Amino acid sequence: MAPPPVQSISPLAPIGVTAALQAATDPDFKPKPKIFDEFALTDRVGIVSGGNRGLGLEMALALCEAGARAIYCFDLPASPSDEWTKSCEYVKRLENGSRLEYVSIDVRDQKALWKKADEIGDREQRMDVCVAAAGILKSHTDCLTYPEEQFKDVMDVNTNGVFYTAQAAGQQMRRFGKGGSIILIASMSGSITNKDHAWVSYNTSKSAVLQMARSMACELGPEKIRVNSLSPGHIYTSMTAAYLDTQPHLLEKWSNLNPLGRIGRPDELRGVIAWLASDASSFCTGSDILVSGGHHAW
Ligand SMILES: NC(=O)c1ccc[n+]([C@@H]2O[C@H](COP(=O)([O-])OP(=O)(O)OC[C@H]3O[C@@H](n4cnc5c(N)ncnc54)[C@H](O)[C@@H]3O)[C@@H](O)[C@H]2O)c1
Repeated sequence: MAPPPVQSISPLAPIGVTAALQAATDPDFKPKPKIFDEFALTDRVGIVSGGNRGLGLEMALALCEAGARAIYCFDLPASPSDEWTKSCEYVKRLENGSRLEYVSIDVRDQKALWKKADEIGDREQRMDVCVAAAGILKSHTDCLTYPEEQFKDVMDVNTNGVFYTAQAAGQQMRRFGKGGSIILIASMSGSITNKDHAWVSYNTSKSAVLQMARSMACELGPEKIRVNSLSPGHIYTSMTAAYLDTQPHLLEKWSNLNPLGRIGRPDELRGVIAWLASDASSFCTGSDILVSGGHHAW
């Protein structure tokens, strides 16, 4: 077999089988496990929208544990939640040089997002990761009489806001010329309809995010800016608590909709977010990653 064409090289090279082959011919070669190094986010800087609580905060904390220098959590409240503040303290106690920052901002405000990301770029002199997780879900509403304003509200946050967040971070990634990873939080509801739930605005907004990720990935690939969507299944957060706490029968119903027979935990997105944000996923772009307990597999 001819040697493979060299179009790119791992920053951790030699790695994997290449390292093993080199070791076989070099008695002084010291083998070293590198798989966890591929996930390391040492010194990287990122933005997580919706990072004040729920899935956004869980993912922001995971990025800090993976070694990110600073993760900026963008969310609506003027000051962060108790949960966020305690997570920020926890990150300090990790003593890995990582920090969480809080920014009060509305993802519907494109200009404010661009400006804030530019300020972060000035301060940190890099931008590597973006997780666009801010989102809203409304109560059941009949699709044929769905009110215009309510439909626009959902699209404004879940689709437009995700786009503006990705733009803001992507502009900084372009500015520093080192590529980056943008992760748009969609939902399994972007590719399936949740049985018995009248959520036409949410489902529509999430479907748009899937195509947004593919489109942006194709435009930005040459700049080494990767764009993927992450589509979680049912997970208990404030968003889903609005249904699960008021209609307790839904827990069993939702649990029985996937082969694992339960809903997910926010911490079960830690691995996938660390993978997508890091060089461990360096050949992954334009993909939708489903983490749904197999909801689609029936
Ligand atoms: N929980 C689930 O089962 C589930 C499943 C699939 C996808 N998702 C998606 O994951 C993301 C996070 O959801 P969650 O479950 O953690 O819900 P959540 O309600 O706990 O968190 C959403 C966050 O977004 C913020 N936000 C809303 N509007 C905003 C705006 N205009 N500007 C800035 N921030 C704003 C909220 O303040 C909140 O902190 C959402 O995009 C949601 O659609 C959740």
